[in-house]
Amino acid sequence: MRASPGSESFASSAIVFGADYNPEQWPRQTWSEDVLLMQQAGVTMVAVNIFGWARLEPRPGEYRFDDLDAVLDLLHEHGIAVNLGTGTATPPPWLTTRHPEVLPVTADGARLSHGGRQAWCPSSPVYREHALRLVDQVARRYADHPAVQLWHVSNELGCHNALCYCDVSAERFREWLGERYGTLDELNRVWGTSFWSQGYGAWEEILPPRNTPATANPGQQLDFRRFSSDELLDQYRAERDLIRTVSDTPVTTNFMVTAHIQTQDYWRWAPEMDLIANDHYLDHRLPDPHAEQAFAADLTRGLAGGRPWFLMESATSAVNWQPHNVAKRSGELLRDSLAAVARGADAVSFFQWRASVFGSEKFHSAMLPHSGTQSPQWAEVCELGRVLGDLGDVVGTTVDAQVALLFDWEAWWACDLDSRPSSDVRYLDEVHAMHRAFRAAGVTVDVVGPDTDLDGYRVVVVPTLYACSDATAGRVSAFVEGGGHAVVTYFSGIADENDHVRAGGYPGAFRDLLGVAVDTFHPLGTDSVLTLDDGRTASRWVEDMRLTGAEVLVRAVDGPVPGAPVLTRHDRGAGAAWYVATALDDDGRRALVARLADEAELDPVPPGVGDGIELVRRTGADGRSYAFVLNGTDGVARVALRGREVVTGEAVDGVVEVPAWGARVVREAGGAS
Ligand code: GLA
Repeated sequence: MRASPGSESFASSAIVFGADYNPEQWPRQTWSEDVLLMQQAGVTMVAVNIFGWARLEPRPGEYRFDDLDAVLDLLHEHGIAVNLGTGTATPPPWLTTRHPEVLPVTADGARLSHGGRQAWCPSSPVYREHALRLVDQVARRYADHPAVQLWHVSNELGCHNALCYCDVSAERFREWLGERYGTLDELNRVWGTSFWSQGYGAWEEILPPRNTPATANPGQQLDFRRFSSDELLDQYRAERDLIRTVSDTPVTTNFMVTAHIQTQDYWRWAPEMDLIANDHYLDHRLPDPHAEQAFAADLTRGLAGGRPWFLMESATSAVNWQPHNVAKRSGELLRDSLAAVARGADAVSFFQWRASVFGSEKFHSAMLPHSGTQSPQWAEVCELGRVLGDLGDVVGTTVDAQVALLFDWEAWWACDLDSRPSSDVRYLDEVHAMHRAFRAAGVTVDVVGPDTDLDGYRVVVVPTLYACSDATAGRVSAFVEGGGHAVVTYFSGIADENDHVRAGGYPGAFRDLLGVAVDTFHPLGTDSVLTLDDGRTASRWVEDMRLTGAEVLVRAVDGPVPGAPVLTRHDRGAGAAWYVATALDDDGRRALVARLADEAELDPVPPGVGDGIELVRRTGADGRSYAFVLNGTDGVARVALRGREVVTGEAVDGVVEVPAWGARVVREAGGAS
């Protein structure tokens, strides 16, 4: 995996346990109760000053630190470390009143207002100047405070303000394009502006992709995504570099690796972090929220280069921002938290410590709910603290996987642009479906980036990688030549990184590797079902294909191209390249995984694992081994293991039993069995 600074730079001998702490919403006497209850729950670290700006600087240049001083001192006196926010996430209303040009503008030209959060344009020099002034104050004041063990730049950069279309952004976009392309001729070539009379004769003519009467230029749309991600990364760097002038304490920010936010290319961000931190909430709008949770954790581990990472925010129970905010059932808090630890998290933290009684998030769950310490939820929070406290020697161990799934934000942006063959083909759907199939079969997967070294894996999965570079395609080919098994799914390798189609037969970048050449796509209607000759079904897609070396394993029986190959295999070098030319149903994906596991000789999955019952191992170089068993079913799970179980403290002599929707961790005797 690609190396990035890892959490070895964060010295902790325990799993970090805590939350965002917003004492500014409460009177001082509540703070005293808070710290005692934090101790009772086993909290080790809290994030403070995340939304601190308006309180720290109530009027321009007038700073007030008495409350924050008191909070940090109080936490320190009670042995609780601080993840200190720079406080820049939301500028105070005075800034945007005096400088309305700081406010972001939407694609249709509407300037947004303050009164919510993150009402600032990522390219605004006025915002940047004021924000850095605050960071300078905070960093210098608290650099040597003994409670501060981590710096938390801003908060979820780009959650609400990732794309700004104002004139300032337009100017910065042009500068960014100038650096990328050097000349207007090159920009015109890459954007393909000979189409629809879009050619630019002067840089000033170039705009962000504001609303236009017809669809906007795809190159412009892609570059605006890249630019926008870079602008916020630049804000991160500016804050971090200022902190660095006075402090050696690790610096990070909380990523949003999640299904509903796609605006940051975190492969570019990750190398800039001292440790990788992610916020993750179960998304009950998805067909399988826990499968997505596992995917996001595997991807976050990929961003951390395989090393441990921080779950910086999650929910003890319901959130407040979905249409139906589903509460966790009894036991699920422990299970969901251990699911993150199993996949490499060395920290479990929540939004937030104490449930608010006002503001937009008052119905969001917290460690300390509205009903207080009498609630069953508080007991579960305390139990989680105890279990994590007993798992200190897991810290620093890593997850081993034999399968890599290739994921790329740029391919996501490109695949989901307008004017594609089918609006039902959504990048994340196919990515999730392939990851889900391996998870359902009990196989652990690393989610890796397009530049990752694939050596050491046995299987590489390439789901719907619509746009990719020659280098990425070359890495997949070399992996196969060297003896690996690659599985590429439909609508992959169609375009290069500029969204120019690779002509000569689809799927251009992988055509030779797969031994097929596709002439025509035949997207299916939303409710259409394709019958396959193995008795299973598929949907969304089928294509007219010529075989140029591949053998056919499964064909369509009906649909627009009866007899069309939908699963092929091509022996290449010492390995094999498999092509899935349709959206297989879950059963078909499972059959494919079973076949691959067999042919790639993946380690066997122990009996009892799969179909909602997961076994994920973390191991240390010294032979330490922890088997996390996560039960996502309504029945008791039984998995063959030996060692000492951490949640119950019992010896496991052959089989561990895990209650419905529960989790157990077996410290294995004598290393992995
Ligand atoms: C994000 C934010 C938090 C809070 C939570 C609610 O993670 O960082 O401030 O709004 O969402 O789920």
